[in-house]
Parts: sequence; C-alpha cells; structure tokens
Amino acid sequence: MAHDAADPLARFAAEFHHPYDGEGRKLTYLGGHSLGLQPKSVAQYIEQELKDWRRLGVLGHVAAERPWIGYHEVAAAALAELVGADQNEVVAMNSLTINLHLMMVSFFRPDAQRDCVLIESSAFPSDRYAVVSQLKFHGLDAARNLIEVEPRAGQRTLRTEDLIDRIAKEGSRLALVLLPGVQYLTGQALDLPPLIAAARRVGAAVGIDLAHSIGNMPMRLHDWNADFAVWCSYKYLNAGPGAVGGCFVHERHGRRSDLPRFAGWWGHKRHSRFLFEQTFDPSGGAQGWQISNPPILAAAPLLASLEIFQRAGMHALREKSTALTGFLQLLIEDLIPESVQIITPSLPEQRGCQLSMRIVRRAAEAKRCQERLELCGVIGDWREPDVLRLSPVPLYNSFSDVFAAVQGLSLALDA
Ligand SMILES: Cc1ncc(COP(=O)(O)O)c(C=O)c1O
Repeated sequence: MAHDAADPLARFAAEFHHPYDGEGRKLTYLGGHSLGLQPKSVAQYIEQELKDWRRLGVLGHVAAERPWIGYHEVAAAALAELVGADQNEVVAMNSLTINLHLMMVSFFRPDAQRDCVLIESSAFPSDRYAVVSQLKFHGLDAARNLIEVEPRAGQRTLRTEDLIDRIAKEGSRLALVLLPGVQYLTGQALDLPPLIAAARRVGAAVGIDLAHSIGNMPMRLHDWNADFAVWCSYKYLNAGPGAVGGCFVHERHGRRSDLPRFAGWWGHKRHSRFLFEQTFDPSGGAQGWQISNPPILAAAPLLASLEIFQRAGMHALREKSTALTGFLQLLIEDLIPESVQIITPSLPEQRGCQLSMRIVRRAAEAKRCQERLELCGVIGDWREPDVLRLSPVPLYNSFSDVFAAVQGLSLALDA
C-alpha cells in the first residue's frame, strides 16, 4: 500500500513480535489500548538482568550493567519527555491504581469545607473504587462526596465547557478533581489545559489518569500545572502485562515537607538511604514517593520499550497516529456506513489512536460480531455495555493493517 511505502516509521513494526493464530497466520492486532505488543529487544533486556543476577548476586545492585540501585532512574528521561515534564517530576514505580492511592494520600486532603472528589461518570472502575475507598478512609460517603459528571443526555462524550461549569459550580466543595487524559471507553481525549486550570482556579487539587494517554498523545504536564498524574505501561508503552507504571508529581510539590505521604526506604534520599537512619528524609521530586525497591525483571521491558520511543519520537508517532486513525474512520464510513456508529470524536485533537464504535446493524448480535471479528483474525476488544474498541498503534501497525481490520469487520458483520 502506497501509504505504508511513504511511512517513515514503517520500519519499527519489525521491532515487535506480532501475534499469530493457531495456523501460524499473522493476526491484525488493534488491541494496543489494552496490551501493547512485545518489543523484540525485551528478551535481551531481561536476559541482561538474569545474567547480571547469575554473575553478580547482590553485587548487581551496583555492578550490573544497569545498576539496580538506580534502575528506575534510567527510565526518567524518556518518561519525562513523553509526559512533558522535568526528570525530577516523574518516576517509574508500582501499578496505576497503587500510584493513584499514593497520590491521593498526599493530594486528597479533605477538610470541613472541601470534602468532595469530582470525576467523570464513566471513570474506569478501578479509579472509582480507589476514590470511593479513599472517601471512606476519610470517614466520607460517596453518596454525598463523590461528584460524577455525565455527558449531556443522549451523548457519549463529555464537553469541556460542561466540565468547567461543573467544576466552577462545585468550587469550594472540591478537594480533588480526577480526570482521564484519554477516556478508556469512548477514546475521547479531554482538553486538559483548561480543565486543569479550572480545577486550580477553585482551589482543588487535580490529578490525571494517563493510562490511555502515555505513548499515545504528546503532553505538557508541567506547563499544564497538574498536581499529579499516574499511568500504566502495558498499553501504549508496550512494557508487558502488569508492567511497572509511573507517576508525575509537579515540581511545586517535590520538596514539600508538609504533605503527608506513605513512606518507604526507596523514597529516602539516595545518598543516605544505606545509612539506615531511623528518620525518613525523602528524595526531592517524584522519586520521594517510591516505597520499595523496584522489580528489576518487570522493569526491564519498560527500558527496552522506552528506547524505541526515543528513537521514533512522540511527535512523529502522533503524526502517523492521526493519519492511521483517520484512515480507519474513513474506511468504516465508506465501506460499512450503516453498520457501525463511531462514538469517538472525529476531530484528531479530541482523540488518540483508539476508535470506539457501536455495532448498530444487528445490534442484538453486537458482542457476537466482535467474537467473529476475532475469528477473522482481527484483535480489538469489547467493553460492556456496547463498545468495540480498535486502535491502530503507530509504532507497529500499518495502513494495510487498518484496511485488513475493516475488511474483517465487514465480514464479521455479514457472517
Ligand atoms: C483508565 C485506567 N485506569 C486504571 C487502570 C488500572 O490499572 P492497574 O491495573 O495498573 O492499576 C486501567 C487498566 O486498564 C485503566 O485503563
């Protein structure tokens, strides 16, 4: 296909393992919003750590090729670039929901006046569970203290002005505003700068869930002034199932000693960590929120993957992503117009690579259609109640993949 021949990033697809079916046929993988593909270099990165562990035992903490004591620091430069932050503002650690809890310990500080959290009504369940459990932890009640903003009647996506109005209206009650960068179900990318500004104007802390944003959209978290952000690395960062996630803490909080936090030795200043003092003296910046020493074998794939991002460049990836997803939309609208209703916004700036859609022809069979799609060799996924998600990922998908996916979808609809 001509588009692929002209694609300057096409060579990166060969750096990934592409899944096959039982007969050895390559699948068309559009499931990167759920789990990214494995970079081929991951095996060497893990093998290096196994080798250093075999060869050095405990000495690997300082003598490994990538010394384990500073292992997470190796990720900082690339992560900082991806989220638009200073290296001190990011840290690779834990998983997303755990990081969200740790951030809420510091940034959800309800008092008699401000005791509410504002989220969107279709927030990812784990985020909601985390928020509700934090409310309970503070003796508060979701029925009163959780404010959930819904799209307008009959609409699936949120409007920036509605969110801003609601934030302004709830104003003095809000202790925390927690929003997604890209919404997991609809694929809508929120316009974060005015939303963050609105939350800060009313004096609320503001945190962003970047699960579907990091590695998908360029960001400038530092300039946008979010208080914190959290992410996982198994989707667009391709760091493997359950990979080590990450956290952003804005510079203005990095050295605050008045903020409560759950502490552990890995958050202690590195130069005095091994003096084993009894008093916790946190590292400046996001690193000070670490608790335990990082799982090296689980962190190795993240370093492998970030190295690829650094070579490809987020801006070039975003350019290709916009073209790929536009092509997916165009083919769906041209080839199966009556069958599928795309619910993701059509403006490129309001979405990442994911398109979410409802099967409207034979709607009662919609979920079976997704199963048939898989039998046709196309991997996307189904999210209740009625959404099929397909995501062409610029690092490893081609325009031909997009064409094959729409052909598969057309067959699945007719079967
Ligand atoms: C938007 C969002 N938030 C939170 C999570 C939970 O992530 P974790 O299992 O890493 O805590 C996910 C997982 O897919 C997600 O998509």
